[in-house]
Amino acid sequence: MTRRVRAKLLRIRVAVEPAYDVCIGVGALERAARELRPTDVVLRDSGVPAGVAELHATTTIALAPGEEAKDWASLASVLAALADEARDRSTRLFVVGGGAALDLGGLAAALYLRGVDAVYCPTTLLAMVDASVGGKTAINLEQGKNLVGVIRQPSAVYADPRWIASLPEAEFRSGLGEALKSALIGGERFLAQLERDAARLVARDEAALVELVARCVELKARIVARDPHERGPRRALNLGHTFAHAIEHVAGYGALPHGIAVAAGLALALELAARSGVLADAALPARVRALASALSLPASLDELRAEFGHPLAPRELATAMRSDKKSVRAEPRFVLPVRAGKLELRVAAAPELVLAVCAPAAKQGRARRARARRARRMRSSPKTGS
Ligand SMILES: NC(=O)c1ccc[n+]([C@@H]2O[C@H](COP(=O)([O-])OP(=O)(O)OC[C@H]3O[C@@H](n4cnc5c(N)ncnc54)[C@H](O)[C@@H]3O)[C@@H](O)[C@H]2O)c1
Ligand SMILES: [Zn+2]
Repeated sequence: MTRRVRAKLLRIRVAVEPAYDVCIGVGALERAARELRPTDVVLRDSGVPAGVAELHATTTIALAPGEEAKDWASLASVLAALADEARDRSTRLFVVGGGAALDLGGLAAALYLRGVDAVYCPTTLLAMVDASVGGKTAINLEQGKNLVGVIRQPSAVYADPRWIASLPEAEFRSGLGEALKSALIGGERFLAQLERDAARLVARDEAALVELVARCVELKARIVARDPHERGPRRALNLGHTFAHAIEHVAGYGALPHGIAVAAGLALALELAARSGVLADAALPARVRALASALSLPASLDELRAEFGHPLAPRELATAMRSDKKSVRAEPRFVLPVRAGKLELRVAAAPELVLAVCAPAAKQGRARRARARRARRMRSSPKTGS
């Protein structure tokens, strides 16, 4: 994986088989437009406002906005539209949209004629920092999210920070949540850079966004190149996600953006790491809480509860975690931080500890005070012989 600056654009190579470049910066749109051939097809998330990430192709297929697109019906209609155009295998599918459009478009490209090239133009921050790299594609079933898909890498990715300007605030913060996770995985330098840039990022400063996307893409590219099929090190990218998926399940999918649940999940993973003795850097939880606040993200599960007005009951969260895809015999496995840049990948935490970290702070305070009272009583009560 290498990073090269050409004019104002950064190019990051993802060294998987076959390798591809992620082109990041103001002007990535024009670069993508120059790449477009008459035989290529554009698949466009219809939730992306007109005038944003416009690519003028002979054929443009409109997709339902966001998550709505990730079903059999959309997949079938995209495949039928491709077949109607009677293109051959030289056709490339340019997918313009958020992570949902890329997941569906990547799968359609993988299936059509047993595989045509997909070029991704991620238009959300979350898709730029995460979904556009690594080749996971998927649709949802009634039984759960992302249950059908393949791993197939795109042939190129173009990310232009100008596309972020129109993003609704909640979707923007969702991308920042996923970026916070990357910084924690990446280590001290990445985390310190995010701390320095937090205010500019919240203001959607284009240069700060380019730097952030580049760092996240470099990190993900490095991890994916080592483990394309998530058999080992790629699991690190699930930091905070066992909690986040449970939160999304209990709140109801779509009730809150994924990356915002991830931010709360990171706070919970740090708390669990501290209480289970995995955490070596005792100052890290407070540091990450401060950074989350600076990025306008929830710094705790309680802040998420307050923001979304949902109780997110600990027992319901624990039940949801037991049916998580990564559970082993209904025992959830956690990725937990040791320090920034160092993680334990498959920790089986005691169920009562998981419940305890998910408990509202007021209850935790009451439980702590009750424990202290019991301890005081034990110390002051006269010893009885046995
Ligand atoms: N493949 C992967 O590795 C991977 C990684 C992370 C997430 N995902 C998937 O990505 C999806 C979430 O992606 P997301 O967070 O990008 O959300 P999304 O794709 O659902 O998009 C969110 C909303 O923003 C709209 N939108 C997109 N770009 C816009 C723009 N520039 N301006 C205004 N509105 C815009 C969309 O129409 C949609 O309504 C989930 O389905 C998740 O499973 C995949
Ligand atoms: Zn995620």
